[in-house]
Amino acid sequence: MERINPAFMYAMTRPLHITDIPGYFLSHPDNCFWVAEAEMDGQPKVTGMVGVEGKNDPQSEGKKYGELYRMIVSSTCRRSGIGLRLAKTAEDFCKERCFSKNRLAVTSPQKAGMAFYIRLGFKLALVHTQFESPKWMIWLTRATILVMEKNI
Ligand SMILES: CC(C)(COP(=O)(O)OP(=O)(O)OC[C@H]1O[C@@H](n2cnc3c(N)ncnc32)[C@H](O)[C@@H]1OP(=O)(O)O)[C@@H](O)C(=O)NCCC(=O)NCCS
Repeated sequence: MERINPAFMYAMTRPLHITDIPGYFLSHPDNCFWVAEAEMDGQPKVTGMVGVEGKNDPQSEGKKYGELYRMIVSSTCRRSGIGLRLAKTAEDFCKERCFSKNRLAVTSPQKAGMAFYIRLGFKLALVHTQFESPKWMIWLTRATILVMEKNI
């Protein structure tokens, strides 16, 4: 039997922002969504994406933080700096809005994601297993969720 991919399972249990990008990310001033494009065979192709949602920061009265969602770079375009540029764009957006920090969650098997965010200066803030999915699924994947933060 194949093991369930924990990253896939985690993505499936998160709110489906991705199905309504204009409605969710582009209709609120504290949210935004970006795509990276490159011309391939004369056609523009999406090579990466990231979204930000501004949320109230309970540890910082009156301030917000930016939660990063859906950071992904096309597998054929990795390690060429697209992720860094997307992350910088998202961080600049959060700075402009005077958010206190950036925050995101990765699952423990997402080693590239973790290395990437550590390189960007994120630090581990919390480890948990609060997947919104049945306990048997969590047991099968043995994954944990790592919450990472960066003050900006
Ligand atoms: C994580 C991800 C977005 C990185 O995108 P990318 O465009 O390849 O990243 P960059 O080229 O900008 O890399 C910047 C730096 O991050 C680090 N990094 C990126 N990928 C890495 C990997 N696979 N292993 C180790 N370090 C890595 C390196 O320090 C890299 O600098 P270098 O190439 O000069 O060594 C991409 O691998 C991805 O889409 N992964 C699948 C989805 C995912 O895990 N998303 C993040 C968690 S939600």
